[in-house]
Amino acid sequence: MTSSPILKRLIKAATVVTVLLAVVLFGPDLNRATSLVDVQINQAHAQTGGNVPGNVQGRLSEAEIWRRIRQGNPGMVTIPDKQAGIMIQSKGEAWRLFRTETLGAFGVLMLFGAITFCLMFYLGRGRVRIEQGWSGRIIERFNDLERFAHWLVAVSFIILGLTGLNILYGRDVIMPLLGPEAFSTLTELGKLAHNYVGFAFMVGLALIFVLWVKNNFPNQHDLVWLAKFGGLFSKHSHPPAKKFNAGQKILFWLIILGGTSVSVTGVALIFPFQFEMFGPTFAVMNTLGLDLPTTLTAMEEMQLSQLWHSIMALVMIAVVIGHIYIGSLGMEGAFDAMGSGEVDENWAREHHSLWVEEQEKAGSSAQGDD
Ligand code: HEM
Repeated sequence: MTSSPILKRLIKAATVVTVLLAVVLFGPDLNRATSLVDVQINQAHAQTGGNVPGNVQGRLSEAEIWRRIRQGNPGMVTIPDKQAGIMIQSKGEAWRLFRTETLGAFGVLMLFGAITFCLMFYLGRGRVRIEQGWSGRIIERFNDLERFAHWLVAVSFIILGLTGLNILYGRDVIMPLLGPEAFSTLTELGKLAHNYVGFAFMVGLALIFVLWVKNNFPNQHDLVWLAKFGGLFSKHSHPPAKKFNAGQKILFWLIILGGTSVSVTGVALIFPFQFEMFGPTFAVMNTLGLDLPTTLTAMEEMQLSQLWHSIMALVMIAVVIGHIYIGSLGMEGAFDAMGSGEVDENWAREHHSLWVEEQEKAGSSAQGDD
């Protein structure tokens, strides 16, 4: 079939018009795009001294440019924003896998480990009783401010723990029970609570630090207490302790240090891409002989904040499960300390004998002053 000369001329004219239209409509964009690629190529060219892989003189190969983009190298596009300036971050996939697989399994292990430990302790040891029985005399253990600070930390921690666990496991555990609609409402409210209650937790944390730091420095009695496991595993052993025993001191420092790092990383997650903490921290750690990366992208900082926040929170939740058990069901007479603020004298003598002596001395010298 031979095409007519008129048809040929028509196709030619249409092509010219299309090209003209394209230049008028997209010309500036095309120009910008090609010059942008040129800038990148020239920049990469300058960085490699004109060598492409294989050491051949010339422009950087396209494969190399795309590799750099995929590896999340900053400066591959001329967007000044640190985060938007990175086109692709393949490491995000490694982070996602770690979060869903490894972190998820670690959390399950911590939670079930803590619950199993408490259960076995209860079955093996039973409730830790006041060996001498209730004396009927009481002694003040924590004043109103101390109890307020404790319950502020405790209530906010429990809300944060439950809403946080829902963020990590809710989709797998709660959504099949409630359905997507109810789960979405619950999670939205939970996330709001998680963001705001965090600040109440920080206030409580600062308060308990100020109130109790003086009672939590280690002393020689702590070694004896630890060597005897606090007498918790044998019926007639009551190693001496001041206001707090070694176990309580460990809990205190874990809550203060762990709580602070969970708070700081939590704030970094609420205000994304504003903080650079891990790079500088790794630089300090490298002075101890480690070899950690110190130049991290804004996205890597966020991913590390999320991981550290979750790991520390899971460790704290596991330890606090043990604390809640021993402070309530696990030990007769203990809850009163944080309930009414007053404990039975025999309980105090069995668990904090040196503290009772201090109180008696302080009491008799105050009477002497009168
Ligand atoms: C329903 C939950 C809780 C109960 C029943 C409870 C109970 C208690 C009791 C009875 C004490 C005083 C122990 C003593 O007199 O020697 C105490 C102290 C303490 N609690 Fe809690 N607590 C709870 C939750 C929490 C939470 C969630 C945290 C922190 C996240 C926490 C942190 C502390 C700390 C740091 C102390 C001082 C050190 C110690 O006694 O172990 N508590 N708690």
